[in-house]
Amino acid sequence: MKRIGILTSGGDCAGLNPAIYALAKSLYGKIDNLQLVGILDGYTGLIEGRVRELVEADFEGLIEEGGTFLGSIRQSFKTIDIKDENGSSKADKMVKNVALLQLDALVVLGGNGTHKVANLLAERGVNIVALPKTIDNDIFGTDETFGYNTATQVGVDYIERIRTTAASHSRVFIIEIMGNKVGWLALSTGLASGADMIILPEFPYSVDKMTADLQAILKKKNYALVVVSEGAFSKDEKKLKNKERLQVRQELGFRTISEKLAHEIESELGIQVRTAMPGHALRGGTANAYDRNYTLQLGAYAADLVADDVFGVTVAKVKGKITHNQLKAIAGKAKPVTDVNQKVLAARSIGISFGD
Ligand code: F6P
Repeated sequence: MKRIGILTSGGDCAGLNPAIYALAKSLYGKIDNLQLVGILDGYTGLIEGRVRELVEADFEGLIEEGGTFLGSIRQSFKTIDIKDENGSSKADKMVKNVALLQLDALVVLGGNGTHKVANLLAERGVNIVALPKTIDNDIFGTDETFGYNTATQVGVDYIERIRTTAASHSRVFIIEIMGNKVGWLALSTGLASGADMIILPEFPYSVDKMTADLQAILKKKNYALVVVSEGAFSKDEKKLKNKERLQVRQELGFRTISEKLAHEIESELGIQVRTAMPGHALRGGTANAYDRNYTLQLGAYAADLVADDVFGVTVAKVKGKITHNQLKAIAGKAKPVTDVNQKVLAARSIGISFGD
């Protein structure tokens, strides 16, 4: 008998349930006497020992479901190995519970933070396989994470609706897209929706350049769409640490980068600007056909790894091929948008401004 735990951690996205569906279906076909154990609410459930014994019927229909039926709570990596008053850290508790629950292996679906914790658990002897999910597409070593394609589609559908009202009223719209550390989602969404300007954290913008470019755009047409990534900042703000930057903005009355940009444009160009953001809708709902197909491949590959006792790894797509990376080789590494990225080159080539 083999007992395999499954958990989803961090922010949810479309594709989590389809990935679990593929993983489970594939595992049932490969391992006799299999018991799958759902760990509830991510690493929090593992720390607290909250689980649900699963049966094959639990996975039926998951291909079409959004969210995660196991639940997910964020756990900060910074606090994961800090000892409490009894001398035990969250990591210690997880390792202990893996043994108490008699789990032969653990499959975790998550983003960067999840992968860092997975690597720590692997170093402590837990047999672990990870799967790369996040709308942010920022896991090092994989061409693409699942959830990203669906989120791009949601963002594009949203911006298309903004476009018609922007054109009707001759307005400038700033559309803020999730992505705190990296701008992949704003980039792909902006490109696919024909944005005039895309502002990313990787390319700090200059207020003068951004407003001058916008003025030039408004000479050619009556409206403009500016897509901005949640974590973007100006060249002036570059020297500030994240916390300081947010504090300075708060003091100025801006809760979001789109509010700040709107203010800068309004005061420089004397025009009215509207802001809009799809927010968590980018993460919600069911996966599109692309992400369903993708997660099926990732989930089935993860099942192979578990069946073959290959642990301490994460599933990845490299140059179009499903493969795996060692957790220790990718955990904690960043995958920012770069100047030489082909989407960026294409954007600059067709005249999209990054305001930089
Ligand atoms: O990591 C995914 C993500 O959606 C980011 O793009 C965003 O910055 C963050 O999660 C929002 O997290 P929360 O759900 O905690 O508001």
